[in-house]
Amino acid sequence: MSFLTPDQPAQNEEPAAEIASGARLVPRITIQAFCEHSQTAQLVESALHDRRMSKVALTTHNGGIDGAVETYKANPTPNLIVVETTLPPDDIPEALGRLAEVCDASTRVIVLGHVNDVLLYRELIRSGISEYIVLPATSAEIVTAITDLYAAEGAAPIGRTVGFISAKGGAGSSTIAHNVAWAIATNLRQDCLIVDMDLPFGTAGLNFNQDPPHGLADAVLANQKVDQTMLDRLMSKAANHINLLTAPATLDQTWDFEERQFEQVIEICQKSVPVIVLDIPHGWTAWTRQTLASIDDVVIIAEPDLANLRNAKNMADAIKSMRPTDSAPKLVLNKLGIPRRPEIGAGEFASSVECELIGQIGFDAAVFGTAANNGQMIAEVAANNKINEVYRAIGMQVTGRQVSHGAAKPGSLLKLPALFKKRA
Ligand SMILES: Nc1ncnc2c1ncn2[C@@H]1O[C@H](COP(=O)(O)OP(=O)(O)O)[C@@H](O)[C@H]1O
Ligand SMILES: [Mg+2]
Repeated sequence: MSFLTPDQPAQNEEPAAEIASGARLVPRITIQAFCEHSQTAQLVESALHDRRMSKVALTTHNGGIDGAVETYKANPTPNLIVVETTLPPDDIPEALGRLAEVCDASTRVIVLGHVNDVLLYRELIRSGISEYIVLPATSAEIVTAITDLYAAEGAAPIGRTVGFISAKGGAGSSTIAHNVAWAIATNLRQDCLIVDMDLPFGTAGLNFNQDPPHGLADAVLANQKVDQTMLDRLMSKAANHINLLTAPATLDQTWDFEERQFEQVIEICQKSVPVIVLDIPHGWTAWTRQTLASIDDVVIIAEPDLANLRNAKNMADAIKSMRPTDSAPKLVLNKLGIPRRPEIGAGEFASSVECELIGQIGFDAAVFGTAANNGQMIAEVAANNKINEVYRAIGMQVTGRQVSHGAAKPGSLLKLPALFKKRA
């Protein structure tokens, strides 16, 4: 590619119709660039002027590979890292090895280098680097490399789907779904889409103090006609990095769906947003079951009583048997410690349900009541409340991140020749 033929003029002219349809727009990814020269930083920033980059969140930082390594020792990695290096070719793989150790497995890396060396190029690509671009390059070459990665025909969908469902109505799955999405957006700075699948009664709009006229219902009812452009129009921005596909919450029609009716909408969302949080209503219909069977991660929310225990156990067993090779459902206990209410202990509850317990949240009528009535997240009404830590930990778990800082990240388990996880 650009490396092998650096003198070839960049071919970034897309047919207008294709761009207009949104087919070749780079999805809502977060990119962080580490540059050694200010001209390189300017070059990367100028890539943002390209229409195909209109949904991307990009920041540039000083320092090459070492700067990136230092940053990601303490911070989560974005979807894509662009890193400039002035190291001699022999030293580059080793330096990138150190970067791989602090990278999450889903993060991809584009290297901007100053030497045109085919052996180095091959070695880097073999080790999982997504692209090596020789400087000086044009911003169009950088855009094309990013587009090839994320928007090419057949590019792997970037979106991770996480569904939250309660073992019993009112256990708190919507509240947890929305607050966990907020935690992912603020801590990981990843774009999150909340899909409110409770069409007659959903609260995502209320909880974010939003009243968009359209949302998920229009997308689902459009059936085969739904596409990326339509979804972009139906999504409403609730906060930085948070978009909603809201439920109409109206009763003028019934909301019965076919088993696979949400499939296409979810698939299109996965092409454009890195994290999709599905707020699934409590129930057991053909389409809820199908959704639970097909998403990346399922979190069951339960209160610590007997009915919740029975339901959570039945749901966990059913979900495990529907998707035996996928990740097992996880459990969060909510509304713990209601005064005078007898409770089943958390350990006993989790071992009976046979699910990993990834969070426990106490009952707090004042904080939750205020947040719900104001249309705000817990972090907005009580920034220092330790509940926010629980939401953050759940967010890290369901996005496949390591929970505790300082511990080795998953990327460090990968050894040469695959330093960085390869994607289809
Ligand atoms: N830990 C908690 N303490 C107090 N109230 C809570 C807590 N979690 C949720 N709630 C409240 O419980 C009610 C039901 O929550 P919701 O998320 O709508 O449940 P679900 O989606 O499972 O039906 C809401 O009014 C919410 O504010
Ligand atoms: Mg709900």
